[in-house]
Amino acid sequence: MERLILTEEEYFSLSSLVYRQFGIVIKERNKHLLLERLQNTLRSGGFDSFTDYYQYIMADVTGQALLQLVDKISTNHTAFFREMDHFTFFANSILPSLCEKQKRTGKKELKIWSAGCSSGEEAYSLAMVIDDFLGNEKKYWDIGILATDISKTALYKAEKGVYNLDVISNVPNKFLRPYFIRKNNLVEISGEIKKSVIFRRFNLMNEVFPFKTRFHVIFCRNVMIYFDEGTKRRLVKKFFNQLETDGYFFIGYSEILDHSQKEYRYVKPAIYQKI
Ligand SMILES: C[S@@+](CC[C@H](N)C(=O)[O-])C[C@H]1O[C@@H](n2cnc3c(N)ncnc32)[C@H](O)[C@@H]1O
Repeated sequence: MERLILTEEEYFSLSSLVYRQFGIVIKERNKHLLLERLQNTLRSGGFDSFTDYYQYIMADVTGQALLQLVDKISTNHTAFFREMDHFTFFANSILPSLCEKQKRTGKKELKIWSAGCSSGEEAYSLAMVIDDFLGNEKKYWDIGILATDISKTALYKAEKGVYNLDVISNVPNKFLRPYFIRKNNLVEISGEIKKSVIFRRFNLMNEVFPFKTRFHVIFCRNVMIYFDEGTKRRLVKKFFNQLETDGYFFIGYSEILDHSQKEYRYVKPAIYQKI
């Protein structure tokens, strides 16, 4: 079968569209990714060229074609307890002080947001840590864990909560037995943990964040690496407005916040606090 080609002009049209809609930058040196990741979509859709495909996306008023495009080009790699130090700090430092503070003020609620949650591993890991920390006390708390992503496929997997057995290799033993149900060579997240996370499709490029609540902790890890500096700065500001005072903001290990973002206090690598 003849291989499709991606001309300069087609690369420019598609990468500009992805940038405008989702903030994701596809550098020219990575243009082969567009070709590799979209090859099958073009073939199965019967498109003769990337120009045909681009025109089809632009003409689709439902927006589904655009969502399918971002689904194909976004990188969804994730893992349970990825960047473990973050979960240790969340369990040993943030939860004890936050819960104490909430108890003192009579508001037994915890609001957490996993932004760019991919297939749910990050949000479920947080739910497990909270469940383990609160134990029998949990029933007296109002726990809200929101997990959002742009990818429909990733969210579908997240909601199902079924993973290949090898995902548990990074999971600390104490979380295995209570929260993972083994089913041949798959594992399913326990019902208690599943029901504590709400998954929603949400584009972080939306001008307005429509959430009524403010969050005590926001995780947006390994998402902004695909954005340019301006997009990142605007997004970090929006996260700031969505955080409670003293709330924590987690980014990926390989990311840093720009020095101009003085509203955040540096806590530990890739952990910041709203001041
Ligand atoms: C590499 S994964 C990170 C998953 C998880 N946070 C972690 O660190 O393991 C990046 C995720 O960001 C999502 N993403 C990229 N651009 C987005 C946007 N504009 N709005 C919402 N999610 C986006 C992708 O779909 C992908 O699932």
